[in-house]
Amino acid sequence: MNDQKPLLRALSGEAVWPPPMWLMRQAGRYLPEYREVRAKAGGFINLCTTPELAAEVTIQPIRRYGMDGAILFSDILMVPWAMGQPLRFAEGEGPILQPLRDAAAINALEVGAVRARAAPIFETVRQTRAIIDAHAQKTTLIGFAGSPFTVACYMVEGHGSKDFHTARGMAFEDPALFGKLIRSLVESTTEYLLAQAEAGAEALMLFDSWAGMLPPSQFRRWVIEPTATIVRSLKRLHPSIPVIGFPRLAGPMLGEYVVRTGVNTVAMDTAMDPKFAAGAVAPTIGLQGNLDPLALIAGGAALESETRQILAAMRGRPFVFNLGHGIDKTTPVEHVAQLVRLVRSGG
Ligand code: CP3
Repeated sequence: MNDQKPLLRALSGEAVWPPPMWLMRQAGRYLPEYREVRAKAGGFINLCTTPELAAEVTIQPIRRYGMDGAILFSDILMVPWAMGQPLRFAEGEGPILQPLRDAAAINALEVGAVRARAAPIFETVRQTRAIIDAHAQKTTLIGFAGSPFTVACYMVEGHGSKDFHTARGMAFEDPALFGKLIRSLVESTTEYLLAQAEAGAEALMLFDSWAGMLPPSQFRRWVIEPTATIVRSLKRLHPSIPVIGFPRLAGPMLGEYVVRTGVNTVAMDTAMDPKFAAGAVAPTIGLQGNLDPLALIAGGAALESETRQILAAMRGRPFVFNLGHGIDKTTPVEHVAQLVRLVRSGG
């Protein structure tokens, strides 16, 4: 077990110290080398579907900081895109999808098309893994997808939102229709993640950014059950691949989420108390997180004291240092270097 990569060991339930680390959205606009490739790619979707460029930006934060995890460069909305839902990323506005509002639109989704349409993304995984095997043998390649609930929120609403009124309304008013959409997403997301594992992803993460909006009964139905189904299918074919779940703002539902979904590691959002999380899950479950991205922008003493508190709470248990949400585009690159030094020193 000890010849394994540090991140893989921690994700599989081993207490590794100093803890392995990576950052959500570590490939992104705060990096000048990312902005350069992004400009050359001419559009975000082009970047995600051009394997040479996507592999290059996946590796950039590894080259600069030596992170333990390289997360595939893509987006959670590439699954709806691969199911045939028109998608664009408008500058300064975020993602825009043609909203799904009725049975006709939901029935027209092409679940079976995902493997073929997302082929360039699996090629990115293959190329990135080859670079890692040759030049960064301690780094773990993480594949990912959005969880069905969060992806459904964007698909129904058609864009980002503070509360996803329309999507959550559909879940209450027409649970059969919303359930149909969730089932299509369970199927396509499972295929999408299996293809990433086959292409060389060594761990898989499910992002459920909007899970925390739901009351418990809806959380069980739309977050826990679909996630559990996906994890079961992944484990059937790849029993040893670690799965990370990120049920953002799940609060007191965290323990039930972990037990019932079967994830190996759970990512903590910025509002989660690491000590609460440690008490809510079994000692063999990995915890990941959860520095506030704003403390990273601030740098200096704020960054140091927040980081040390998280490290102190997590010492002695399986843990992966990360942020509690994606890194902000205004983050100074030197602050990330400061953070890496601090975490590498063990706090
Ligand atoms: O480095 C990495 O983490 C890997 C790639 C990654 C991206 N998005 C790239 C991206 C990952 C894992 C995601 C996940 C994602 N995407 C989530 C879940 C996590 C979270 O943030 O809650 C969500 C909800 C999305 C949907 C999405 N994609 C939004 C709302 C936006 C616009 C906001 C923004 O930051 O611009 C995106 C665009 C996006 N995805 C960018 C990147 C680097 C910025 C696009 C650009 O370069 O212009």
